[in-house]
Amino acid sequence: MSELDRLMTSDSRREDSDIETSLRPHTLKDYVGQEQTKKNLRIAIEAALSRHDALDHILLYGPPGLGKTTLACIIASEMGQNIRITSGPAIDRPGDLASILTNLTQGDVLFIDEIHRLSRAVEEVLYSAMEDYALDIMIGKGPTARSIRLDLPKFTLVGATTRAGMLSAPLRDRFGINYRLEMYTTEELTRITARSAHILKVDFEPEGLFEIASRSRGTPRIANRMLKRVRDYAQVRSDGKITRALAREALDLLDVDPLGLDRVDRNVIMTMMDKFGGGPVGLDTLAAATGEDAGTIGDVYEPYLLQLGFIMRTPRGRVLTQAAYDHMGRAFPGQKEPNEPEQTSLL
Ligand SMILES: Nc1ncnc2c1ncn2[C@@H]1O[C@H](COP(=O)(O)OP(=O)(O)OP(=O)(O)O)[C@@H](O)[C@H]1O
Ligand SMILES: [Mg+2]
Repeated sequence: MSELDRLMTSDSRREDSDIETSLRPHTLKDYVGQEQTKKNLRIAIEAALSRHDALDHILLYGPPGLGKTTLACIIASEMGQNIRITSGPAIDRPGDLASILTNLTQGDVLFIDEIHRLSRAVEEVLYSAMEDYALDIMIGKGPTARSIRLDLPKFTLVGATTRAGMLSAPLRDRFGINYRLEMYTTEELTRITARSAHILKVDFEPEGLFEIASRSRGTPRIANRMLKRVRDYAQVRSDGKITRALAREALDLLDVDPLGLDRVDRNVIMTMMDKFGGGPVGLDTLAAATGEDAGTIGDVYEPYLLQLGFIMRTPRGRVLTQAAYDHMGRAFPGQKEPNEPEQTSLL
């Protein structure tokens, strides 16, 4: 299945962008879950406000769709400051970053998404900007070149990354605050979809939203996307109200199983079972055998399978656990097959 028609991907898709803005909470109070992060953030914000100082630089990391961009916007609004949004791949040359930085005003929040994708040259400009609020720029070329230092307003950099491991150590060390966003519980996702349903003016039964939440892989973006699909289904098939039975029907039709696994996840699991005896198998080998991209497996599918405890990472590769075999209705290797007619595949 291509990424394009994959409902369960946590990556942002075009269909999300129109509603994401309207569904984004704007205050910490409306931001559901991530209690530890919120608690620490509240203290940091209050302290900075009472000192009339800018907030320390903050690094947010975690899988796609967990609310990094949302939190960055909330940080700016709780500080009463403007936010300037850009991303690693969008900043091509050091000069691009220099012009962004010199246009900031005191206290501004600069949000750099996918900060692990900044080039080395751009990163180096960022070092002195973060540390000394200064910019060293070279004027001229060759023997007449000289460096001048420009002072920058005191700003707060909020960096977001899905891969903290890919950040260079000097950059990582310059963030005073690091927050790791965690996957959401079903209860939290139910609250998020309830909030979204109110905004979208969708009629629902709490059990219907719970059903959506429990299949959303711990990810608000997926929960909101599924809410929209189920709403459409409810409009066409009934009176528009999202009940539990209706949510189940709609999600079964979309081929999302009760744990939120879709065809691609099941294909990854079945390939590991059938072709590699449950592992260990390396990411690249698994990618080749399933026809998926290794980076996508690592970033998108694997975090949830790890979270479910279906996959373990070992030094020799990925290994399936008994839970994965149980979910697929297969006997764990080394265990006797159950005395039922053998199931070949659940796909
Ligand atoms: N804690 C939350 N409470 C309520 N809604 C949330 C929360 N976190 C995320 N959302 C919703 O999920 C959507 C996706 O969140 P967001 O764009 O912030 O994710 P992200 O981590 O920046 O993803 P990416 O890594 O793809 O940039 C938002 O539109 C927002 O409505
Ligand atoms: Mg984002």
